[in-house]
Amino acid sequence: MKHIDIAELLRTPEQYYDKEVTVCGWVRNLRDSSNVRFLAVNDGTALSPIQIVIDKSTLAPEDYEAVNSVGCSVKVVGTAVIPGGGKEKIEVVAKEVVLLGACSPEDYPIQPKRHTMEFLRTLPHLRVRTNTFNAMLRVRSELAAAIHEYFQSHNYVYINTPILTGSDCEGAGEVFRVTTQPWDASYKTAEEYYNDDFFARKAGLTVSGQLEGEVAAMAMGKIYTFGPTFRAEYSFTARHAAEFWQVEPEVAFAELPDIIEIAEEMIKFIIKRVMDRCPSEIEFFDKFVQKGLIKKLEGVVNNKFSVVDYTDAIEMLKKSGVKFSYPVEWGLDLQTEHERYIAEVICERPVFITNYPKHIKSFYMKQNDDGKTVAATDLLVPGVGEIIGCSEREADYDKLLSAMTERGMNLDDYKHYMDLRRFGTVPHSGFGLGLERILMYITGIDNIRDVTLYPRTAKDLK
Ligand code: 4AD
Ligand code: MG
Repeated sequence: MKHIDIAELLRTPEQYYDKEVTVCGWVRNLRDSSNVRFLAVNDGTALSPIQIVIDKSTLAPEDYEAVNSVGCSVKVVGTAVIPGGGKEKIEVVAKEVVLLGACSPEDYPIQPKRHTMEFLRTLPHLRVRTNTFNAMLRVRSELAAAIHEYFQSHNYVYINTPILTGSDCEGAGEVFRVTTQPWDASYKTAEEYYNDDFFARKAGLTVSGQLEGEVAAMAMGKIYTFGPTFRAEYSFTARHAAEFWQVEPEVAFAELPDIIEIAEEMIKFIIKRVMDRCPSEIEFFDKFVQKGLIKKLEGVVNNKFSVVDYTDAIEMLKKSGVKFSYPVEWGLDLQTEHERYIAEVICERPVFITNYPKHIKSFYMKQNDDGKTVAATDLLVPGVGEIIGCSEREADYDKLLSAMTERGMNLDDYKHYMDLRRFGTVPHSGFGLGLERILMYITGIDNIRDVTLYPRTAKDLK
């Protein structure tokens, strides 16, 4: 179907004045008077619709009457003109209007008014037609492009790590199992069960591409993965999903301060890129979703992030005098309320918390000389909490072995990973950035269910 993207008409309107254009799209709004029918038509290429003017003195009723409801799809041939008023720079006076698909106004649930996010969640197949989802999906796409751009322009190699895996990278037991055994398979032992299963061993969906990413980094130096990861975390928060995308750079010859520098530079780069490429979308979010968003993002791009040692963070929380629901004690993990207090009240900016107690973190993290902490950091941001989990990796075979033994891990599953410490080990570091978490931060949308096309969360798979 030969037609022009509405984004193109809006981008360089002067190119099209007095010319014939064909646009296709869905009617977002419709106004009718005795002389004119106005259609706001959106094709998804831009946040704004384009106004179609149907002059009833030049078109016969049968030529346009069928186009009579919000949600229907149309093709319009007409002349691009400068509108008489309003802020838009272009509209189309229709010569021919073709109804492509009707849409029953009684049944169509997406009307030109503000619907609640909760209501829209019940309609994942239709909510994409709202401005919020239109803007979110375009920002998500530009964000993904910016992530690739950052790493590609800094000598990183993009690696696709497997989604089906036999190991649990985070060791938190949140792996979705993958099996081809029937649901009522009955075996006396696990060994017999797995022998008959597809991989003849325990298998699952990856929680992180890190372990395989490290393999690649030990040859390619600087790599990043960018793909879906899965966690069977049985939590019903606004920031946990069972399926989410993670960006995981892994960098050889990098220690903790090096990777912190990289993470900060990358976050600033991608936010700046999205602001440059999606100005209307960011303005929309500032206006309708989170007031002050643009100021917040500019602040992130232009200011240094904080770095606070975990031990100091615990002291600060204790001294704050705030009554938290969860206890604050050295050795305990920080809860969301603590993380947000540190980022929002104490630092008022993104903050790296460093050197966590080793027993609350994963086996692969570099053990510090104090014997109590590891060279790990989480990046916390106001409003969302943790967006990055990061660490220098334990590069010493014996220390890694002892951390794994202490945790009772099955060493056979990690033979290759340990080999990396036997054959030319080097200091190396990496991190995982949750795509949906940073997207929440950039758009101000406060629920992870609303920054993905089809959210997957506990008890919910539409
Ligand atoms: O902190 P995490 O668990 O770190 C790792 O998986 C490391 N292996 C990463 C690495 O070093 N290569 O997860 C990393 C990030 C979190 O900071 C968060 O942004 C996101 O992934 N994340 C989730 N996002 C949505 N829903 C969940 N259930 C998430 N769990 C983690
Ligand atoms: Mg984490």
